[in-house]
Amino acid sequence: MLSAFPLALLALSVGVGATPDPTTINLTSRKINPSPRSPRDFRKRSLSTTDNIPLTDFFNGTDLQWFGNISMGTPPQMLTAIFDTGSSLLVIASTQCGVACSNQIQFNTSKSSTFRDGGENGTVAFATGLGVKPVESDSELVLNLRSGSDHVRIGEFDAGNTSLFTITDQTPEMNQDFFSGISGMSPDPDGLLKGLINEGMPPVFSFYLTPQAIGHAEMTLGGIDHSKVKGDLVYAQLSNNSDFQGSWQLSSTQISVNGKTSSALNVSRTFIVDTGTSNILMDPQAAEAVYSIISPDIKPKANLTGAFGIPCDKISTLTAEINITLTSTDGKSFNVTIPSSELSVGPFADEPSLCQTVINAFEGLNIIGASALKHYYSVFDVGQQRVGFAPNGH
Ligand SMILES: *[C@@H]1O[C@H](CO)[C@@H](O)[C@H](O)[C@H]1NC(C)=O
Ligand SMILES: *[C@@H]1O[C@H](CO)[C@@H](O)[C@H](O)[C@H]1NC(C)=O
Ligand SMILES: *[C@@H]1O[C@H](CO)[C@@H](O)[C@H](O)[C@H]1NC(C)=O
Ligand SMILES: *[C@@H]1O[C@H](CO)[C@@H](O)[C@H](O)[C@H]1NC(C)=O
Ligand SMILES: *[C@@H]1O[C@H](CO)[C@@H](O)[C@H](O)[C@H]1NC(C)=O
Ligand SMILES: *[C@@H]1O[C@H](CO)[C@@H](O)[C@H](O)[C@H]1NC(C)=O
Ligand SMILES: *[C@@H]1O[C@H](CO)[C@@H](O)[C@H](O)[C@H]1NC(C)=O
Ligand SMILES: *[C@@H]1O[C@H](CO)[C@@H](O)[C@H](O)[C@H]1NC(C)=O
Ligand SMILES: *[C@@H]1O[C@H](CO)[C@@H](O)[C@H](O)[C@H]1NC(C)=O
Ligand SMILES: *[C@@H]1O[C@H](CO)[C@@H](O)[C@H](O)[C@H]1NC(C)=O
Ligand SMILES: *[C@@H]1O[C@H](CO)[C@@H](O)[C@H](O)[C@H]1NC(C)=O
Repeated sequence: MLSAFPLALLALSVGVGATPDPTTINLTSRKINPSPRSPRDFRKRSLSTTDNIPLTDFFNGTDLQWFGNISMGTPPQMLTAIFDTGSSLLVIASTQCGVACSNQIQFNTSKSSTFRDGGENGTVAFATGLGVKPVESDSELVLNLRSGSDHVRIGEFDAGNTSLFTITDQTPEMNQDFFSGISGMSPDPDGLLKGLINEGMPPVFSFYLTPQAIGHAEMTLGGIDHSKVKGDLVYAQLSNNSDFQGSWQLSSTQISVNGKTSSALNVSRTFIVDTGTSNILMDPQAAEAVYSIISPDIKPKANLTGAFGIPCDKISTLTAEINITLTSTDGKSFNVTIPSSELSVGPFADEPSLCQTVINAFEGLNIIGASALKHYYSVFDVGQQRVGFAPNGH
């Protein structure tokens, strides 16, 4: 009973203006001062240095994405967003979107005395996380946006007057999501994250993304919830691949499966750590090399470029421990492990005897998504431009 369509929420481009020759908004904003105000000022307003935000698992046969509450406007309107390390902007469905956003709670800007229209139209296209329904073209996951600003709050934290985009229209694929919007959490902060840091929040946030059966998923703003860390926290410095500027990119030295590697896998690659993508993405050569080690029965799914499958009755017998080798800030190798239990994403909706496998092939893109992050406590350190991983005890 599964129709997973994990959306990869990696923004490809933002064009401004509905004119024939759109310009591009620079996604790589200027580096911001990590603490323009002292953390003490912030504590006075928030009563704590960190704030744990409970997250709900969007589960449909498999864990897809995790979302939480945010509020916008004066008086506050309660909305939901996923917290997406794969993109940067704060985008939220507005009542202007109407039926095109029928599954989303919509922000009514007319009801907010602090909303200000920014006067710019734009579009944002998302790349794909490829569930059972990979999206090859970036025309399927598109939002029409209108710039603006308003007062945004999350948990006990107040981001003050925050730059945002309202969704005024979207492609039907995007209406599958029933959360109101996406809060981009890139290492070059914008939107909510930038607002929080400007208000004095320590520039770090962490995720405890759990499978549905475990629950209690949370995001911690301003620090680390050490009660969720069940071992050593190991950090990797962000790498400098210019193709992926402004993303949580890490350099990997090797991929291996069940302890084996191959010439296609024992090479350096850039992986993006993306809480908004459910599966694992690898460039096609790597995906095929990994699958060739696991089983010859894993084959590309017809008509769904990038997706692979295997008869469901064969999948439970397979061993497929995938290790992505990274380098820690002290120069040692460490692995992010995707256990065998993640290999099956569940049956394809149009072919229920065939189960999708966890790695999707995508030209030029490698993503460590939720299938790996579920097994770690992950720390996104904006101030020191690094990502930390620790066992989370499940
Ligand atoms: C969940 O999957 C089912 C079966 O494929 C599909 O019909 C349904 O629309 C999905 N629900 C959501 C909320 O995505
Ligand atoms: C911007 O989008 C709105 C619809 O949300 C439309 O009414 C308006 O004409 C657009 N403006 C420009 C300059 O394209
Ligand atoms: C975008 O970046 C380019 C190159 O850094 C710069 O020339 C341009 O002025 C920027 N545009 C805006 C709108 O900030
Ligand atoms: C969001 O807030 C509503 C009440 O407004 C609450 O019922 C719900 O549990 C909250 N969701 C999360 C994930 O905290
Ligand atoms: C938005 O709020 C305005 C002002 O209260 C109201 O007139 C309008 O009907 C609301 N729109 C929707 C779609 O609820
Ligand atoms: C919020 O900030 C924007 C951009 O700086 C500004 O245009 C707007 O007037 C501010 N809003 C309020 C309510 O002051
Ligand atoms: C990336 O570039 C910056 C500035 O040139 C440098 O300080 C940093 O050490 C580099 N990081 C890596 C991982 O190479
Ligand atoms: C990482 O995984 C590889 C292959 O599975 C293994 O050879 C290596 O020892 C592991 N590294 C560490 C530090 O455990
Ligand atoms: C994968 O990496 C982990 C952690 O470094 C290690 O314990 C494990 O043995 C590796 N798996 C294989 C199959 O080598
Ligand atoms: C991987 O490649 C490096 C050189 O880049 C080599 O030193 C190492 O032996 C190779 N490892 C395996 C397991 O093939
Ligand atoms: C899948 O591909 C086959 C052969 O190319 C074609 O006949 C069929 O219509 C396609 N199915 C879909 C759902 O696109």
